[in-house]
Amino acid sequence: MTLQTTAPRNARILSVGGYRPPRVVPNSEIVDRIDSTDEWIQQRTGIMTRHIASADESLVDMAEKAARVAITRAGLTPEDIDTVIFATITYPYQAPSAATEVLTRLGNTHAAAFDLSAACAGFCYGVALANDLVRNRTANNVLVIGGEKLSDFTDPDDRATAFIFADGAGAVVIGASESVGIAPTVWGANAETRDAITMQPSWIDYKQDPTADIKWPDISQQGQTVFRWAVYEMAPVGLKALEAAGITVDQLDAFIPHQANERIIDSLAKSMKLPDSVAIARDIRTTGNTSAASIPLAMDALLTEHPELHGKTALLIGFGAGLVFAGQVVELPPVPKK
Ligand SMILES: CC(C)(COP(=O)(O)OP(=O)(O)OC[C@H]1O[C@@H](n2cnc3c(N)ncnc32)[C@H](O)[C@@H]1OP(=O)(O)O)[C@@H](O)C(=O)NCCC(=O)NCCS
Repeated sequence: MTLQTTAPRNARILSVGGYRPPRVVPNSEIVDRIDSTDEWIQQRTGIMTRHIASADESLVDMAEKAARVAITRAGLTPEDIDTVIFATITYPYQAPSAATEVLTRLGNTHAAAFDLSAACAGFCYGVALANDLVRNRTANNVLVIGGEKLSDFTDPDDRATAFIFADGAGAVVIGASESVGIAPTVWGANAETRDAITMQPSWIDYKQDPTADIKWPDISQQGQTVFRWAVYEMAPVGLKALEAAGITVDQLDAFIPHQANERIIDSLAKSMKLPDSVAIARDIRTTGNTSAASIPLAMDALLTEHPELHGKTALLIGFGAGLVFAGQVVELPPVPKK
């Protein structure tokens, strides 16, 4: 028996939307608890301010706002979405998923929906999956959300993380297109460095000994290990993604890497020999590191600042806890329909 299949088609990012919580937290509000300075944080990371959600603003509150902007800008309604992929590591329930909570908020309760755990690479993993779902006609309009409320899982007294992580959500709609709008993804892991970024302790530790004095799970990281890995390993990933897209650095219009540290961004741009004509996203300065949300938020900010980049080519690279990574060249979304 021969099974039936359908001819593949092309996909692209139709729109992007972002949401940043209104409260802006400058370095000066963080430094005392971690014996640091505004100057040190800016020099080592580029971060000046970040957005932190209020106690009663949930991860899904932020995701819903970003999703609604992306859906409207695509000229669609929530009913048109048939798949939701929510990349996050900060939804405080194992089940049901954050993606299905978004569905109920949007009033569309029938679309396929699932969460994706690939930390700061989660958005690029989601773009890879959405591309293949649309290409193979499993889905027509995929909402890919990257969202985090990292303030719930960051110890404000931890010198290694308190100044880096922040809150926010970004979303894109990926749908069918005439031409190739998303090139093949280059992805993988380096799991021997699995302990370089962790969220500890596990919930099982509470279950096994409820009387023990166990702290809330917070992110911890070996900053130098992550820094070295990102700087040395991610430039070849970017170059492979360009090769997979069949373009050279001279044909690239924008570079939108995960916003982990401005020094990492600069180093990658230098190693890949990006010409000055390539616009580089530096949203980290005012948004901090929002993990899965960082690339769609940076994309939204870059397009606001440089509207001429709508429809142009951009290299995305996500990397983080795992350690895992994914990179792809995309055509940036066209000018919003609404
Ligand atoms: C976290 C990070 C900024 C730390 O910078 P670093 O240069 O590696 O810092 P180190 O831990 O080597 O410490 C260097 C010095 O700064 C000091 N220091 C460390 N944290 C500090 C802080 N928060 N404030 C002020 N000083 C600090 C150390 O005590 C040390 O001082 P010394 O030289 O007098 O001994 C950097 O490692 C980094 O950005 N790593 C990547 C993290 C990342 O991107 N994570 C997300 C990935 S998804």
